[in-house]
Amino acid sequence: MQRSTTSTVLVAGAALAAFVSAFSAAAGVSPVALAKEAQQPPPAGTPPRPLVPVAASSVANNPDPYVNEYVTMTGAVEANLSKTSFSVDQDKNKPTGKDVLVLAPTLQKAADANSYVTVIGQLIKFDEKDIAARLKDYAIDLSPADIAKFKGKPVVLATAVINTAGIDIAKKPIPPMSADDLALQKIMTKLPPAQGAVRKTLDSKDMAGAKEQATILKQAFTDIETFFKAKNNAEALKWASEGKNHAESMLVNLGLSNIEAAKTSITPLGATCASCHGKYRERMDDGTFRYKPDF
Ligand code: HEC
Repeated sequence: MQRSTTSTVLVAGAALAAFVSAFSAAAGVSPVALAKEAQQPPPAGTPPRPLVPVAASSVANNPDPYVNEYVTMTGAVEANLSKTSFSVDQDKNKPTGKDVLVLAPTLQKAADANSYVTVIGQLIKFDEKDIAARLKDYAIDLSPADIAKFKGKPVVLATAVINTAGIDIAKKPIPPMSADDLALQKIMTKLPPAQGAVRKTLDSKDMAGAKEQATILKQAFTDIETFFKAKNNAEALKWASEGKNHAESMLVNLGLSNIEAAKTSITPLGATCASCHGKYRERMDDGTFRYKPDF
């Protein structure tokens, strides 16, 4: 068992490194990307609290102190139970009867049986309804017998599963940007600078400047409308039209030299960005974005 201690430490190190790199994914990226990063919510699965390191045996023996905690749990793979789930215990050579369930919705390949893994994620007590509520895009694929067996037992909802080679086998590959993504990106990247500039020019009562920026916003929203019309996405189209309307009222008020009235369009215009991003934009682990159609 000596080897186990060493590899456990190594694996835990790799797990931490994986997290650190998730946090600092922006490092080495342009300052613009960094600034953009600051406005983004943390990546899905980022633990809101410090990770608690724990051995599978401690969890199996006494799960209660760890319930709802985000853990880095080390253990040996006991059985692959489905495409996205496996159990771990403490001994890689024999079943201990003290298995802890791991659900890893993004698991890319089966974990090697009997080898050590470090699993990162929130620990809860297994309850089908609770899991359905927490993981909206995930369907439990355990057998009815396993569902019954693990009911009320500890389960880790894993966002990372690091194997002894230091590889996170739950890491989703990052798809290349499609032609649609690139087309949208071209429009989208015009918006934040124009929003900033319209605020500045309105504050400094630079009417010509404000008109120029509001026109850029209006044109960008018009282009977004065109994109989503072609996609038959009525909801996104509605948000794009709302944004365009706010840019238009800004232009109308600027035409009337009513700066205060023009300013009232800024916030609702920005709200359309958030609505659409909340539903149709997905952030990849490398900080890039994709259009996520609502099937
Ligand atoms: C109707 C939907 C919709 C609206 C409205 C919208 N966006 Fe987007 N935005 C998207 C989608 C989808 C993506 C992901 C595809 C992409 O990266 O281009 C995106 C991506 C982005 C990106 C990342 C671009 C990149 O790839 O680097 C930025 C920045 C952005 N939007 C800013 C804005 C701002 C600011 C507004 C409002 C003023 C806005 N967006 C309004 C749908 C929308």
